[in-house]
Amino acid sequence: MNIEKSFYRRLLEAPTAITFNDVILLPGYTRVEPREVDLRTRVTANHVINLPFVSSPMDTVTGAEMAIALARLGGVGILHRNCSAEEQLAMARKVKRAESFIIRDVITISPDQQVSEAIRIMEDNDIHGLPVVDDRNYLLGIVTWRDVRYSDPSNLVRDVMTGKDRLVYSHESITIEEAKRLMNEYRVEKLPIVDKDGRLLGLVTFKDLQLRGKFPNASRDADGRLLVGAAVSPYDLDRAKMLDRYVDIIVIDVAHFHNENVIASTRKLMNEVSADVVVGNIGTREAALDIVSRLDGVAGFRVGIGSGSICKTGVVTRVAAPTLFAVASVADALASEGLLGKLPIIADGGIKNSGDIALALATGASAVMMGNLLAGTRESPGRLVALEGKYYKEYYGMGSNKARMKRASLDRYSKPSKDVEEGVEGWVPYRGTVKDVVQELKAGVEAAMGYVGASNIEELWYKARFALVSPSGMGEIRPHNIFMIKG
Ligand code: IMP
Repeated sequence: MNIEKSFYRRLLEAPTAITFNDVILLPGYTRVEPREVDLRTRVTANHVINLPFVSSPMDTVTGAEMAIALARLGGVGILHRNCSAEEQLAMARKVKRAESFIIRDVITISPDQQVSEAIRIMEDNDIHGLPVVDDRNYLLGIVTWRDVRYSDPSNLVRDVMTGKDRLVYSHESITIEEAKRLMNEYRVEKLPIVDKDGRLLGLVTFKDLQLRGKFPNASRDADGRLLVGAAVSPYDLDRAKMLDRYVDIIVIDVAHFHNENVIASTRKLMNEVSADVVVGNIGTREAALDIVSRLDGVAGFRVGIGSGSICKTGVVTRVAAPTLFAVASVADALASEGLLGKLPIIADGGIKNSGDIALALATGASAVMMGNLLAGTRESPGRLVALEGKYYKEYYGMGSNKARMKRASLDRYSKPSKDVEEGVEGWVPYRGTVKDVVQELKAGVEAAMGYVGASNIEELWYKARFALVSPSGMGEIRPHNIFMIKG
């Protein structure tokens, strides 16, 4: 065999895989106050969000509750896929229904169903009213929690509903202000929307109108619903097609995307869906260039391999592309094609605090993906436990044996493709609500950008200057020589 390049040369000329703790951002001349910083960002080719925060698709991080909380604050959640396609779809629907001006995906009931069924449907979906329609979707009335609460469960819906003669409803052209006025005037909490023939098209709820004012910074789709993404395997076309109706972003969720079979399957999948397709994970310049040239229409990259706090890939394989190194490499590749920012980079893995976020953004990322930091919040699906007087939440890698035991995750890190565990299981400190955590991280990033003199993320790309920091320097730039009361 003719070896082209000496092993020794390859070792000598190896690049340095710089990671978060190796680097600092240098202060620059500034006119920017932290409160003036605009963190709006393009998270995929076609979607802009108000905060550069994305939650990891892991079953201890992102279910519907996390996705709703994060989108309301301006970020976006990627629903995990460690469940059946139907369960993942139900999460997506819940997010889309959480807040909208006109709900399109209305849950209805027929007049001949029993009150007991109306109660069950309301309880299952956590809603308090159901439009009553016939089998051709013509609106006949509405039945609310108040109507069924004290009614005999065997009564029929038609006997307890508010019929069309007394019903307040409207048409699609109604504005938010008109809807508010109408609902106040008639003291109703639900306003069915019908077409010119009287067929049900949607529903406006008073709760949604109120929530809209409450979360002005939320990430929304064109219909005013919260933005949401979902992870899928590149080989699960059926799931992707099912989710496509409800989600804005589909994330192809593999540990190593730069793989012939994965790319070929993703190409097929991309032809069948209309959501923006983000691919990952990748960690090198070559992967980025190869994918750009072979996957027309790709909408973004999830970048970083082996840096996740629960990740064992680097230990069991010694293969990794630490997040900061990976982001800078991919960003350079995209910049060389004139694509930086147009095909956004989501920096994924190893984010421990707002300083790491600032560094990831400064090296060319448009957003960061977080598992660990969000797993500790109230809204994550993981279990809450008390250990020695402190609260923790369960957090484990999607390649850990615990996650791999759930069949649906088989193709990312486990059998039949792999025999080795690539993630660990554990607990992270309970951190309160997503809102608390996000506000703290946001304030830290804004402060960093103030020091650098960048009023938005694109400006940060141009202005950021870095320095490598020695181990003793790293010790010096964190609190030292003091007994700390907290933290
Ligand atoms: P963290 O925020 O540092 O905890 O990193 C979260 C990221 O780790 C996720 O978004 C995934 O990219 C990655 N990840 C999740 N599960 C595993 C695993 O079991 N092994 C390796 N990486 C994982």
